[in-house]
Amino acid sequence: MAASQGALLTVTGGDASSPDQAAVASDWRLNSRNIVAKGDHLLDHGIYALDHKDPRARPFILLRSQVLNALEKLEGRVLAVTSASALNGKSHVAANLACAISRVRETALVDLHLRRPVIGTRFGLPAVDGIRSYLEGSNDLGQLSFRLQDERLAIHAAGTASEDSSDLLLSPRFGKFFSTLHAGPEEAICIIDTPPVLESDDMLLISKQVDGVLFVIEEGKTTKSELVESFRLLNGTPVVGTLLNKAIKPFGGIHG
Ligand SMILES: Nc1ncnc2c1ncn2[C@@H]1O[C@H](COP(=O)(O)OP(=O)(O)OP(=O)(O)O)[C@@H](O)[C@H]1O
Ligand SMILES: [Mg+2]
Repeated sequence: MAASQGALLTVTGGDASSPDQAAVASDWRLNSRNIVAKGDHLLDHGIYALDHKDPRARPFILLRSQVLNALEKLEGRVLAVTSASALNGKSHVAANLACAISRVRETALVDLHLRRPVIGTRFGLPAVDGIRSYLEGSNDLGQLSFRLQDERLAIHAAGTASEDSSDLLLSPRFGKFFSTLHAGPEEAICIIDTPPVLESDDMLLISKQVDGVLFVIEEGKTTKSELVESFRLLNGTPVVGTLLNKAIKPFGGIHG
C-alpha cells in the first residue's frame, strides 16, 4: 500500500544587495513567459492543489498554513522540500505545496534537482533551458522562467539533466540565484524541489542557502537510520517539519 498511488499524502506531522541582483530579481518577476496550465495534464501528473475543491488538495492546504507559520517564525520565505532517498515524493509534495500556497501568496517553485528534474515535465512546460543554463552563465532568468496564467505561481524548471550538478551548485552563480530569491518581494514564498540528502552533496549545498527545510518521510521506506543521518547532515538548517507521504492512514498535522 505504501507505494501505491492515490490519496496517500498524510500531513503529519531582503533586500537586493546590489543593483545587478535587483535587476535579475525583477527580471524573472516581470519577464517570465506566461503559460496556460492544462488541467488534465496537471492531474495526470499528480498536481491537484491549484483547485482547492479537489479533496486531494486538502492535505496541502493544511500543510500550507503550517509552513507559512513556520517560515514567519523564522522570518524567512525560501523553503526546500527534501527527503533521505530517491522517489520518496519530494517533487510531488513541492509541486502541490507551491500550488496551494499560490492560492494565497505570490509563489515561486524552483527545481534544483539538477540530476533528475521533473517539475517542467509535470507542469507541461516546454522542454527549454532552465536553471541549469542560468547557473552555466546565461544572464536572463526571466526568459528561463514561466508563470502560470491567472495564477500567482512562477516556475523555474531545471532544464536538461546535469551530471555535473555539484559543480554548478558550487559556482558563484548559485549564490547569486539565491540572492535574487531572497531579494524578491516580501510576500513571495519560494519552494525548492531538491535531490535526496543521502544521494550526493547537492542537497547539503542547497541547504546552506535556504531558510528552512520540509522533510518528506515515505511510509514503509524511509528508515530510522536514514532519518538520523539526514538530520545530522542537515545540521544548521532549520527543519520546519516532517511530512509522512504515501501514508496508509491519514493523521493530520505536521511534526515540527
Ligand atoms: N502522495 C502521493 N500520492 C500519489 N502519488 C505520489 C505521492 N507521492 C509521490 N507520488 C508519485 O511517486 C513517484 C515518485 O514521486 P516524486 O517524483 O515526487 O519523488 P521524488 O522524491 O521527488 O523522487 P527523486 O528522488 O527522483 O527526486 C511519482 O510518480 C509521484 O507522482
Ligand atoms: Mg524529485
